[in-house]
Amino acid sequence: MEKSKVLIIGGTGYIGKRLVKASLSLGHETYLLKRPENSLDIDKLQLLMSFKEQGAKLVRASLDDHESLVNALKQVDVVISAVAGVPHRGHYILQQLKLIDAIKEAGNIKRFLPSEFGTDVARMEHVSGPGKEMWHDKIAVRKAIEEAKIPFTYISSNCFAGYMLAGLCQFPAIEPHMDSVVLYGDGNVKGESYEMQSGVNHYYHVWFEGCLTNFEIEENGVEACQLYPEIKYTTAHEYLKRYL
Ligand SMILES: NC(=O)c1ccc[n+]([C@@H]2O[C@H](COP(=O)([O-])OP(=O)(O)OC[C@H]3O[C@@H](n4cnc5c(N)ncnc54)[C@H](OP(=O)(O)O)[C@@H]3O)[C@@H](O)[C@H]2O)c1
Repeated sequence: MEKSKVLIIGGTGYIGKRLVKASLSLGHETYLLKRPENSLDIDKLQLLMSFKEQGAKLVRASLDDHESLVNALKQVDVVISAVAGVPHRGHYILQQLKLIDAIKEAGNIKRFLPSEFGTDVARMEHVSGPGKEMWHDKIAVRKAIEEAKIPFTYISSNCFAGYMLAGLCQFPAIEPHMDSVVLYGDGNVKGESYEMQSGVNHYYHVWFEGCLTNFEIEENGVEACQLYPEIKYTTAHEYLKRYL
């Protein structure tokens, strides 16, 4: 496999730390953005140090410091961003517009993977209501990447099984309720908090409306099982058995 020099932004996050582990284990030269704030958080700092011990290179830079960002980008050829985008845990998706400006200036980046890893936002343009800003901001980032003609890959996992399937849509549960489930009301019941409302809105569009499944694969599209035949897929049934 051809090896790349990969810069990961948001490398101590939920998705980010898994990306770092994967990049290191595949033998890519792995660079991690070390933000000034990381030096103030003992868990993040220790995680960064352990990645360094495993071979990652830490690059001091910040999305708010254009020059530091351009310098970081000049050392690599692939950039993967995993900045936060879950409303209740911080939402920095639009900060990536600064990254796009820096990629344009650096001029050497062969591929950019923005912070996605969720629903395919191209199928969610019509979505309104609580939580819509996450999808709309990701759409704005895609638009900026494409306008800047930066080579990109968008990874849409279309509802991480860990968060969505296992909870059986019993927001905010992330493991199955074994005794009973609540069937949501007639569409007029008000959610209590914004977090609750955006979670339920997510479920509505994905599970009830089916915006990620009720479409035909386009002419140039390929179904994932055909694209990656070497992967052993897990059925929902097999997946849920682990909770028994
Ligand atoms: N969590 C999920 O269940 C889930 C599911 C589907 C999709 N996603 C998507 O995956 C992506 C990453 O989400 P996540 O849950 O992994 O995020 P997260 O763990 O909450 O945070 C990721 C990273 O965001 C960075 N960050 C925080 N504040 C920042 C700031 N002021 N400026 C720049 N970066 C900042 C931090 O990077 P440092 O490492 O530098 O501190 C942090 O580690 C998002 O697009 C999200 O929508 C998440």
